[in-house]
Parts: sequence; structure tokens; C-alpha cells
Amino acid sequence: MTVTVRVPAKINLHLGVGAPRPDGYHPLDTVYQAIGLYDDVTASPAEEWSIHTVADAHVDLTTVPADADNIAIKAGLALAAHHGIARAAHLEVHKGIPVAGGLAGGSADAAAALVALDRLWKLDTPDEELLAIAATLGSDVPFALLGGTAHGTGRGERVAPVEDHADLWWVVVPHEIGLSTPAVYRHFDTLGGERPDPETPHDLLAALAAGDVAAVAGVLGNDLQPAAYSLRPDLAERHELLVGLGALAVLLSGSGPTQLLLHDSADAARASAGRLGELGIGHVLAPAPVAGATVISYA
Ligand code: C5P
Repeated sequence: MTVTVRVPAKINLHLGVGAPRPDGYHPLDTVYQAIGLYDDVTASPAEEWSIHTVADAHVDLTTVPADADNIAIKAGLALAAHHGIARAAHLEVHKGIPVAGGLAGGSADAAAALVALDRLWKLDTPDEELLAIAATLGSDVPFALLGGTAHGTGRGERVAPVEDHADLWWVVVPHEIGLSTPAVYRHFDTLGGERPDPETPHDLLAALAAGDVAAVAGVLGNDLQPAAYSLRPDLAERHELLVGLGALAVLLSGSGPTQLLLHDSADAARASAGRLGELGIGHVLAPAPVAGATVISYA
């Protein structure tokens, strides 16, 4: 008996970040988008918790925990605790989302485990309760359940779907060396300057509702980009190179290091991908928006 859930990577079309709160987290006003780059998590019954991870060629697994430190197992434990049941499972994870890439791959696995185990254990947990459990696991986990395009507030854990009629064609440029999210936030704090509470990007929300990709391209933004590029000057250099390829926009994904090229058609995206290929730069094509954590098969 197995249940397999497919879960997408996330990017932030807008990532507004304020000064740290008393609990150390940063207030966010963000627009999340789920893109077509996936992890699959398969859950099967077992007496003890275990996890096994395999990956696509572009994904480096060296920092992924193979024990109960893995966030997918933490998700399973949280779900069992929520229902007051003593259960365990074996989790098989197939990673297509780069690790430590600013794409919320770990959060995606946690969300996928929640959905797979809810189905495997026949718990029928209401969506609101799954979202609440997800928020205890990480700021990006609720969005991985939701998918599509969503407005995120709080520390990112409060999510609401937004109207999005834009078809976005991303070319995702991963990097071999990952970036630590806490390190980027810490560096953001040291850069100084005024840090007013982040505001909702109404111009972006209007462009998405209108399905106007060119307008979306003009208002993308990521407050963590200066901090990430200051920590990693190689990314700033890469950014300049990517801008020269002629996409509608170039954006850093979350806390990085993954960078994103936006296009308004699959053909335009393929043209950028061809140029990246000639330069020997690894890349993946990803349409957006796509659905959140979804059961895709069972046996
Ligand atoms: O919520 P999550 O565990 O995914 O966050 C990872 C780290 O990212 C936090 O420990 C914190 O250092 C940083 N973070 C933050 N403010 C947020 C979200 C994450 O400072 N809103």
C-alpha cells in the first residue's frame, strides 16, 4: 500500500521583508508562485520511521538528512500528534527541486508528506487543520499545500490565493553551491537602512489579475536580493550575464541562489534555454502557475 504526492517548487514574484520581529522571524509581504519543478513523496506503512531520498542529476543530496531530522518525517510526526495516534511510515522522496536553492524544496517535502500520510492513514484532516500543522513546520510549508499563486503575510505562513490569469514561462538557473536562508536573513539585517513593514504589491496583483505578463515583469522584486548578492558576488555577476540573454526579467528566487528568467511564451523560454546551453549553464524549464501538493498515484 503506497500513496505518492507530487509537490512543486515555489518562487516569490515579490518578496517584501521588514525588520526582524521579537521572535527573530521577519515580517513578509510576498506573492508566492508554484512552478513546474517537482519533488515526489511516496508514503508506505512501516513500524518505524525511515526515509530514503533519490534525486535528478541537477540536485545535490549531500545536505539532506536521512533520518528523523528530515522535515518530511517531522511532518509525519506532527500529523500523528495532531490526531493523537502512534503511527510511523516509510517515505521515499524523489527530488527534482534543487536543495538549498531558495525554492523551498524541504518545505515542499513536508507538505507532500502531510498529504500522503493523511491519505495513507485515512485521516481526512480538514484543509484548515493541515494548513495550521504546515505552519508549525516552516514558513513556506502552507504555500506548498496551496500552490498556484498566493499572497503570503505574517512570516510567510499566512496564505491566500490570488487571481492570476498570466501564463508565465520560467527558465530556472540553479547553482551548484547552495545558500543558507538564515544566513541571508542575518546579512539582510546587517545591511541597515530603513526597514518599514512590507506593503502589499498592488501593482503586481493587478498585473496578475489582468494576465499582463509584460506588466508582471516590470514589477517583480525581491528585498533579499542585495543581501544574497553581497554574500555571493558570483551571483551578481551571473545576474548581469542573464540580463543580457533578453528575457523579460531576471529574478533571484527567495533567499537564492537560484535565478529565474521570465518569458511570455514557451518559444521565448526555449530560446533563452538554448543560449544558456551554448554558454554551458545548467537550467530547467518550468511553467507557472501549477497546482500545490497533489496525490498522483497509489498502489
Ligand atoms: O520558517 P522556516 O523554518 O522555513 O525558516 C527558516 C529560517 O529562515 C528561519 O530560521 C529564519 O532564520 C529565516 N526566516 C526569517 N523570516 C521569515 C522566514 C524565515 O527570518 N519570515
